[in-house]
Amino acid sequence: MKWKKCHYPHPASSNLNSLALHYLKAYNIILKTPEQIAGIRKACKLTARILDRLCSEAKEGVTTLELDELSRTLHKEAGAIPACLGYGDPPYPKTICTSLNEVICHGIPDNRPLQNGDIVNIDVSTILDGYFGDCSRMVLIGEVPPEKQLVCKVSLECLHRSIAVCKPGVPLSAIGKAIEDYATSMGLSVVNEFVGHGVGIEFHEPPEVAHHYNSNHIPMVEGMTFTIEPMINVGVRSGVIDPRDGWTVRTKDGKPSAQWEHTILITATGHEVLTHLVPGI
Ligand code: MF3
Ligand code: CO
Repeated sequence: MKWKKCHYPHPASSNLNSLALHYLKAYNIILKTPEQIAGIRKACKLTARILDRLCSEAKEGVTTLELDELSRTLHKEAGAIPACLGYGDPPYPKTICTSLNEVICHGIPDNRPLQNGDIVNIDVSTILDGYFGDCSRMVLIGEVPPEKQLVCKVSLECLHRSIAVCKPGVPLSAIGKAIEDYATSMGLSVVNEFVGHGVGIEFHEPPEVAHHYNSNHIPMVEGMTFTIEPMINVGVRSGVIDPRDGWTVRTKDGKPSAQWEHTILITATGHEVLTHLVPGI
């Protein structure tokens, strides 16, 4: 009995190689199998396609509630489930997040029409056949003031620069360094109260992926899937959660904020952006 208990492979982990076992035991990180990766890739492609549709409908006069309704339809048509709906406590009431102007993240769709000069982040998280994808983009409505244009541009560049460093052997802290180095060089601040996350088998898995300077030494390894979703502010980095809904996070100083997000896979030689838009499918 004793021998069995300590050396007999656990049924659920008997197919895991030693690196995967180590990551699971030491960090609670699930390194994905090729079969799981295929499922996550499919979910991510759908997520990217839904996000793209929603972004192309986001125009002056359209309400974010209408975007949420379209999101429901698109999920239903694809046989997918919106991961946000009913998530957390209090249960998130809609299928997407729509974060306008000074909203850092988790803005709830409502009946306010989009206005000329708005910037809006649309964040889509989708479950397909049990696998999760997560991505977001900014949409600029009409003529947008230079300050808002800058924060949209810099947050996208932060995402690209941080993706570029991702490969096996590189510590997770390199992501935050790439982002904070660039954002601060442009005179902007990096939100440190919300982070990216492992994703794929569940909505939010370990590890946490910080976008600010940090000392996370965990090396990226093949089979990790996680989001990078830098939130960049024009003014101070800190935010306040709206006590009325328990979700909407606004910048403390009311200045604009922007965010872009992809789901990433670490491959043997580098990375794959799973939520890149694949045209035509
Ligand atoms: N896509 C967001 C994230 O990165 C979703 C937040 S949870 C929600 O985790 F319920 F607010 F949608
Ligand atoms: Co996310």
